Amino acid sequence: MIALSGAHTLGFSHCDRFSSRIYSSPIDPTLDSSYAQQLMDACPQNVDPSIAINMDPETPRTFDNVYYQNLIGGKGLFSSDQVLNTDPDSEPTVSDFATNPGNFNAAFITAMRKLGRVGVKTGNEGEIRIDCTTFNS
Ligand code: HEM
Repeated sequence: MIALSGAHTLGFSHCDRFSSRIYSSPIDPTLDSSYAQQLMDACPQNVDPSIAINMDPETPRTFDNVYYQNLIGGKGLFSSDQVLNTDPDSEPTVSDFATNPGNFNAAFITAMRKLGRVGVKTGNEGEIRIDCTTFNS
């Protein structure tokens, strides 16, 4: 899970995925304050829902371990990112991946290969979601 989340080193996300972190009172305290401001500037309330922003604010077009350095700096975009650094069970791995890119790369390869073997559920076993955040019906 910790290695797979490192995929968020690339790509972008729609504002509504994380707006509750910046438009709640108080603002999510695990967010770096200047990053929180940057997110508010990029995603004002009632923003066009098609607007998407980089998930890795530092090196958005490079597959690297900067995602983990961002977590240590309070720049994890989703709660599911930031919690990896605040939870004592995952923090040592975040710290390892942040300083040893080779360890992250190896763990990511292993995890993606495992994910690729999960397979597709058919019939009564499950369903392929049309929208990955909700059941089809
Ligand atoms: C355990 C691993 C992972 C976790 C816990 C995770 C979690 C999340 C969460 C919570 C969101 C916010 C969107 C939502 O709530 O629906 C998200 C968005 C996203 N994730 Fe991940 N993710 C993981 C792995 C991955 C991987 C492996 C990839 C790509 C290979 C990926 C690509 C994306 C993209 C592109 C978005 C943005 C979607 C959008 O804004 O429309 N994630 N992820």
